[in-house]
Parts: sequence; C-alpha cells; structure tokens
Amino acid sequence: MGLIPNDVINQVIERSDIVELIGNYTALKKAGRNFKALCPFHNEKTPSFVVNPDKQIFHCFGCGVGGNVVGFLMRQEHLEFPEAVRFLANKAGVVIPDDESTAPSPSRQLREDILKVNGLAADFFHGILLTNHEADVKSAREYLKARGVNLETVKKFQLGFAPNEWDALLKYLRSKGVSEELIAKAGLIIAREGKSGFYDRFRNRIVFPILDVQNRPVAFGARAMKDDDGAKYINSPETAVYTKGQHMFGLQLTKGAVGKLDKIIVVEGYMDMIMPFVHGVENIAASLGTALTVDQIRLVRRYTHNVVMLFDTDAAGQSAIVRSLDLLIDEGMNVRVARLAQDEDPDSFIRQQGTEAFNARVENASSLLDFKFDWLERQHDPKTAEGKAKIAQELLGTIARFKSEVAKYELTKSLAQKMDIPEGVLLKQAGQVKDKFAGAPLAVARNEAETKISASASTGQELLLALFLKDPAWVKAAREHIGPEDFPDGLVRQVVEAIWSLANETSDWSTNDLLVRLNDEAVQSLVTRLISIEEGKLIDPARIFQDCIGKIRQEKQKKARGRLVQAIRQAEALKDKEKADQLTEELNQLFK
Ligand code: CTP
Ligand code: MN
Repeated sequence: MGLIPNDVINQVIERSDIVELIGNYTALKKAGRNFKALCPFHNEKTPSFVVNPDKQIFHCFGCGVGGNVVGFLMRQEHLEFPEAVRFLANKAGVVIPDDESTAPSPSRQLREDILKVNGLAADFFHGILLTNHEADVKSAREYLKARGVNLETVKKFQLGFAPNEWDALLKYLRSKGVSEELIAKAGLIIAREGKSGFYDRFRNRIVFPILDVQNRPVAFGARAMKDDDGAKYINSPETAVYTKGQHMFGLQLTKGAVGKLDKIIVVEGYMDMIMPFVHGVENIAASLGTALTVDQIRLVRRYTHNVVMLFDTDAAGQSAIVRSLDLLIDEGMNVRVARLAQDEDPDSFIRQQGTEAFNARVENASSLLDFKFDWLERQHDPKTAEGKAKIAQELLGTIARFKSEVAKYELTKSLAQKMDIPEGVLLKQAGQVKDKFAGAPLAVARNEAETKISASASTGQELLLALFLKDPAWVKAAREHIGPEDFPDGLVRQVVEAIWSLANETSDWSTNDLLVRLNDEAVQSLVTRLISIEEGKLIDPARIFQDCIGKIRQEKQKKARGRLVQAIRQAEALKDKEKADQLTEELNQLFK
C-alpha cells in the first residue's frame, strides 16, 4: 500500500465535516461558536468534550485527548491512520490516487487471499457443526452441550467442527477453486512426509476461529474432544496474516465494552473468554495460553489502560501472570490480579457460581504488589533473613519499573509496611536497585502533586503557543526574537518546531496542516487543548505576547551571561588576558 500523499490527506480533512462525523457518536450541543458533548472516550456526567467547527478539531478537557477528524475516527473506530483517511476519503468522494492506479503488492495480495481462504474454511467448519448428522458431528454437538455451549454461542463465535477425515477441508476448498499452494500457505493443510500431496491440519476437533479486531479470520484453534486424542489444542501455524502473540481472542466482540468500561479482564483460554462473555461479562479477551506479549499489551492499550488478569490457579497460569506483570508496567498499564480457587478456571467458575460471583472476584482483584508478594512468599521463605531479602529485592525491581516517582515511593512505603521493614531501609535498598529512584522521594512527590493541580492552567510558554495557533501573525512577530530551542518544555518545543518549518514554506498554513505533521498523541492533544482555550483567557493577546517573549529573552540572556561568566573564569585561569577582555566586553554588551 503506497503512502497517501499529504495534499490528498489535507483534501480529505478539508472536505470532511467534523461536527457531522462526531454527531454520529455523541449528542452535540451548540455552545457559542463551538459544540459541547459528553466525551465518547471516557465516562463523564458533565460535558467536557469540545468540537471546534472553525478549526475542525475536537478536544476533551476531561481525559485530555484531542485531534482532527482523522484522529477522532482512529480513536473511535480503532483504525490505523491510513484506514481512517481512506474511510473519510470514500465518504467525501476524494479519490486516493495510489488505490486506483497500482495493483496491490504481492504480500498484500497474499494476505488478502489467505483471509479469503480462512473465511471459506470457517464457513465450512461452522456449516458442518450446524447441519451434519454423522456420528462424529453429533458427538461434537453433545460435547459442546455438556460444556454449556448453546446454539446461540456457536453462532456468535462461529464455532465449527473439523470432520474425522484426512482431506474433508482440502476437498471442499479445491472444489471452490483454491490452489493447494494457497491452502498450505494459510496453514490449513500439511504436506505428506516423503510423499506428494497434503492432508488437513485440523481433524476430528471443535474449531475456534480467531478473528482480529477488524473481524478478519486470521487463524484457528482446534480442540480434541477426548483426553487421549493428541494435544488438547492444535493451532494454526504462523502465516502471512498470523503471528503468535499478536492477537487477543474475542477482542473483536468486546473492544467497545472494554473502551466504555475502561477495563479489560484478560483470561488464558478460548472457553475462559467465551463462557463469561455469554454470561454477560462484556469486557473480556483471551491471550491464548502463556504470558501476555508486548504486542498484545499494546493492542489492548488502544482501548484501555486498566487490566485485570484472571488466569488459572495452576503453576503455569500463575507464572504466566508473573511474567506478564513487568511487561504491563513497562507499557504503562495499571494491573490487578483476580484469584480463583485451586482447580477453577474462569469457564468453570462462572458456570458454577454465576456472573455476580464472577464480577465480585474481578472487583476484589489484588493489587499487583499483593499478588506478587504472595507469589514470592511461595518461592522464598519469608521467615529467613535471606528469603526476606530476596523477596524485597524482587519486589523493588518490579517497583523500579514504574515511571511515576510518586507511585514508586508509595509502593515502596506500602511494601515496607507489609514486610515490616523500616521505610528508610527499603528506600535505601531501592536506591541500589538497577533503575535508580531519582532524587528525594518526598520532594518529588510534592512537585508532582503541584503539576497535577496546575495541569488545567496553562504555562506562559503554552499561552504563547496558543497565540501562534490563533493567528499566524504572532508567529511572524515571534520569529524575529526567538526560536524553537528557546522553549524548554519538550512538547511545546515540538509544536513550535513544526510551526516554524510550516511558516518557512508558506504564510498561509492551517491547524490541520500542523496536525498532519504531528503524529504524537500527546503533542496533538496539547495543540487541540490550546486551540480550545476559551477566548476569555486570551483577552489581551498583545500583553501575553510581550510578557512571554520578554521572559524567554530574559532566560536566554541569563543563560548567555552564565556561559560568558564561565568562559571568562576559564580564560582567567589560563591567564589568557586578551580572551578574558574580549569576553568581558561581550558581557557588557549583553547588559545594554
Ligand atoms: N493451549 C494451546 N495448546 C495446548 C494447550 C493450551 O494452544 N496444547 C492454549 C489454548 O488457547 C487454551 C489455553 O492455552 O485455551 C489455556 O490452556 P488450558 O488451560 O490447558 O486449556 P483451557 O482453555 O482450560 O481448555 P479447556 O477448558 O477446553 O480444557
Ligand atoms: Mn478450561
């Protein structure tokens, strides 16, 4: 797929109407020149979501997200950038040149072909389970019935049955004109050893299609119905459309609820996802064995930052959780761990005890620290000094992964309490852990609290940027005095850099030109927030401009003076009188 040219993207954005688009998802009320609404991205009772028709952007003052039409669609429909642009292009009648003139690349063609074959295979397996009357199919239906899976569930998940034959699927797909080569590339058949020809990978098994979040059949898992029938599950191999550990089973059905409830319950197995779901648990998906991968975590993170792990109580399940925890922290997720009794899994639990009991387990999930502490207590004896040291060391390692200094400090404090170790001792040891705690925790804590309080108010730098966004004339005026390097705040600096480079190209740039260049979500959200600042706060732009530029220049001079004084001292130390004099003259100039 070729890159979509920037001017086409701009055209798509210009021809789209953000008010109309967002109006499809949340009720917009006119408020002055803008529209207000309840934010579709987080739960709120009073509207803090603003749509600005002049600038064609949205911003939520509650959860901080913002962007243009494309950004809205990406977030709302969980699309990638080009997908969102294509959707809008279609709606607005803009032709994306590449799409028309160039054929899909070979790899894209192969992916599309495999998805088609997988779709055919899913239909085939499903049709057999629903309609065939052979003995093996009957026993499959009985097996599912015994596990509490009714017809509705079979349909919802498009469950199927692979007949007890060597080539049932192969024959079917061939009759549909699909080549053996392609069926093999889809991982549905296996080459015979030492002979020519192929045989079906899935035989005499219940088939679970695995769909990606866009509802495309990327792979299959297949369960034996008896314990002595080889591996319990046989899964698709990796193919051009399927990489293990990149998908979450069931998420295509539950992603909406996961976003709304802002929480996901992660389970291990197919049935662990299916049974709670049909019992009314809407925000659940399965990792399909083993620990969560970074890819899976990032996929989940598109919808929520809050994870409740609910794995089997066996050693494999528990150690899979432990391996997932550090990765989850690294990816900035909040994680808790729900617990079941020995020999229970989410599937059996909800069938025996019902949805309320299930939800209670999720509600009462342990904190990450409590869970890991209990787990470590089983690995190291906490009654010995050595064991205690080991446990503390491990937990401090986990705590050190948190990005927030406040979180680290709070967690270390509660660990001290839990382990009955004086805080100071643990904090000292924390300092020796790989990822060192920065600065004195208390001082940091205070700063962070302050930042939080003032987060809604804007800094001088931000106000200046707000002026730039309001009227490019301010950019022109500012460029005579300062540059992007004069903005110490990294986010603000990125935006100023982009504005400066746009202004180099044209005097007539728009907010959308700017947003198209800024890919980072945090940067986009800063821009939309500043654009959405109420007029009242920018009442005297000239004054704001002068004050801010004045401050920046003062800072600049202070730094320059500092550097000069330093250089003079150095020159003096080297007895380089000439240089010292010259620098002193420069310093005097600065004070003029
Ligand atoms: N799994 C697998 N291959 C196996 C065993 C397990 O791919 N040989 C994956 C499956 O996705 C399975 C998950 O790991 O759903 C959890 O395994 P397990 O707990 O053993 O199975 P359950 O999901 O409990 O399966 P069931 O309830 O059908 O017995
Ligand atoms: Mn199970």
